[in-house]
Amino acid sequence: MNGIFITFEGIEACGKSTQANYLYNYLESRRINSILTKEPGGTILGDLIRNIVLHEKVFPIAELLLFLADRNQHINETILPYLEQGYIVLCDRFYHSTYAYQASGRKIGFDTVQQFNELAIQGCRPDLTFLIDLPPEVGFERKRSANLALDRIEKQNYDFHYAVRDAYLKLAREDGRIRLLDGMRPKEVLKKEILDIILETFPNMKERAIS
Ligand code: TMP
Repeated sequence: MNGIFITFEGIEACGKSTQANYLYNYLESRRINSILTKEPGGTILGDLIRNIVLHEKVFPIAELLLFLADRNQHINETILPYLEQGYIVLCDRFYHSTYAYQASGRKIGFDTVQQFNELAIQGCRPDLTFLIDLPPEVGFERKRSANLALDRIEKQNYDFHYAVRDAYLKLAREDGRIRLLDGMRPKEVLKKEILDIILETFPNMKERAIS
């Protein structure tokens, strides 16, 4: 049985990591082989890159190339080997983040990012992407009230974060594999919405349970 690749996207504090965790726990509880991974990160090299991009001074093109180096390593070391074994691979951020943050937020441009991203992904594309939409000020209020420190990218101004959000919404209009969800809705409602979409998109999901 072939694996399925599902990604979660959205602005800071939109709830995507929580939802990715919920889905992972659901699949585990049904004994369906799955892994939960993330970008940047998910490999030893990726963890090193994550630390650099989130905390050191990095120029925009260098930042783009670091995210893509992370992605290529992640695809070859983790994502493809698990997909080949028939796993459901859940990934917290993937290339839609690069279009939103680097192409739009950093203004590098869609065509340039696409050219380099295509080199990095070697044809590896998500089967389904959940985009959890939220106004940036709501995300930052969540961070403030939870007393969470901001990293280098989160510290960018609102223009940056609005450009990121707008790019995500544009991607959702153009890419039929993106499912747009309203991040203002309660966590439990989103959890059910996501599960319904999964079961409708992959009707044989429950047959994947290992006996
Ligand atoms: P996270 O903390 O939500 O995992 O995301 C780490 C940060 O990295 C977040 O601010 C988004 C950013 N990012 C990019 O700018 N480009 C990318 O391609 C990826 C994967 C993440």
